[in-house]
Amino acid sequence: MKIAFIASEAVPFVKTGGLADVAGVLPKALEKLGCEVKVYIPKYSIIDESQFNLLYRQDIGEIKIKVADKIRIIKLYQGKLPNSNVTVIFIDCPWYFHRESVYTNDPDEDERFILFCRGAIEAMRMEKWSPDIIHCNDWQTGLIPLYIKDNFRKDPIFVRTKTLLSIHNIGYQGRFPRESLDKADLNQTYYFSEGPVEINDSFSFLKTGIWFADIITTVSETYAREILTSEYGKGLENALILRRDSLYGILNGVDYNYWDPAIDNYLPFHYSGKDLSGKLKDKEYLLNHFNLKFDVNVPLIGIISRLVDQKGFDIFSDALPELIKLNAQWVIIGNGEPRYENIFRSLTLKYPDKVASFIGFSIELSHLVEAGSDIFLMPSHYEPCGLTQIYSLKYGTVPIVRKTGGLADTVQDWDELQYQGFDTGNGFSFNDYSGYALFSSVKRAIDTFPHKDTWNKIRQNGMIKDFSWDKSARKYVSLYENLISKQN
Ligand code: ADP
Ligand code: GLC
Repeated sequence: MKIAFIASEAVPFVKTGGLADVAGVLPKALEKLGCEVKVYIPKYSIIDESQFNLLYRQDIGEIKIKVADKIRIIKLYQGKLPNSNVTVIFIDCPWYFHRESVYTNDPDEDERFILFCRGAIEAMRMEKWSPDIIHCNDWQTGLIPLYIKDNFRKDPIFVRTKTLLSIHNIGYQGRFPRESLDKADLNQTYYFSEGPVEINDSFSFLKTGIWFADIITTVSETYAREILTSEYGKGLENALILRRDSLYGILNGVDYNYWDPAIDNYLPFHYSGKDLSGKLKDKEYLLNHFNLKFDVNVPLIGIISRLVDQKGFDIFSDALPELIKLNAQWVIIGNGEPRYENIFRSLTLKYPDKVASFIGFSIELSHLVEAGSDIFLMPSHYEPCGLTQIYSLKYGTVPIVRKTGGLADTVQDWDELQYQGFDTGNGFSFNDYSGYALFSSVKRAIDTFPHKDTWNKIRQNGMIKDFSWDKSARKYVSLYENLISKQN
């Protein structure tokens, strides 16, 4: 089975969030199950090429693509996902991808990803590589299902090709003016109120994908149910309800070759569930790094996050005056909206003995905080899957989460389950999206922390859970197989 996996970011080449983690690993898990997989990503100038051996595909040479009535030239480069045979095709177009960041607010953001969609399709045509499935991810790839059903309908390369769209976050819909249809060489007849591509007087790449993909998936079972409601569907719930027979929730997995405290290259000290002594040393190392005092008896609460509304920083701010009075230390790694960045900057200045922060993106620190913290906080308003809490379970760092999306599917509340006579809880969770509910959960965790046997049980419950990709990758393969077996 041939799978083209198209995404706007993938580790180890370029990452702004969890999509990159998924796109860098799921294709390898699919390969292990016997699929032939090629990954397609843009060749951004921020990719550090010196680290990777990328080969220019001279045999293919320059490809001309028309976007917004202008001819753009693309070239293909080729690499591999580490420790695998998965080919990665980089779509090179300096005009669009040599920018300061992966995503921009530039007026031609639509053109950048129109070119990417067209570029990936052209790459397959030029290589005469006919995929059984094109697996698209998020709005940046949302036009591909329509291109395959319309513009390339008669192309022999794609006659048997089916498309699948994975929604990693419905909050990002790729909305542009209707003129973008012309830029994309798509027919204006698709655009009408509440039709296949329109939402609130704009043309949405994500809605287009939802409408035209043969199958839609999202990254947890709970989120698959939530996005059918007006509370979580962000205006796309009706389009999804129309397609609900083709909508599936498949929980993301984790790459334990990379996210495992027993072998993690970024950690000064390794550890496992059997011997947690290295974890305490990592905590000491982390606190030293940030000039905070080390005290075994004071819990350290870690946050690693994009600092955006989705992640619950408004209720966090509401709870702050009470949170800061608790006997705990805090370390935050994040970047995003200036107002949230400033909250953490000023907290750090105001409480230098209690709070440390790094406002920016640091993969090394993200691993260190997973390991060195006692508690991991993720109070998201919504969370399609969430990977950081799954990493924290493996690192023996007890998560506190709001019960939504993938957080609800991966974290089991200790108190609630214990009350029911089970002792399988692996974290703390709350329902109400409020500062008070958040505060109460943090308080419960901090009050439990001194009870070492209980704390250890919660921690071990998390560490033994297995979220490796194998099971979820099998679910994708069976969806692919179902699709292929269907008549056209
Ligand atoms: P999302 O994709 O919504 O940002 P996830 O929890 O799925 O949330 O994935 C976030 C990924 O990005 C994780 O691998 C996390 O470690 C990483 N990450 C988030 N913020 C930072 C940061 N400031 N520095 C380094 N890594 C970060
Ligand atoms: C998105 C979501 C996150 C998910 C990630 C990978 O960015 O916000 O919940 O884990 O994609 O699927």
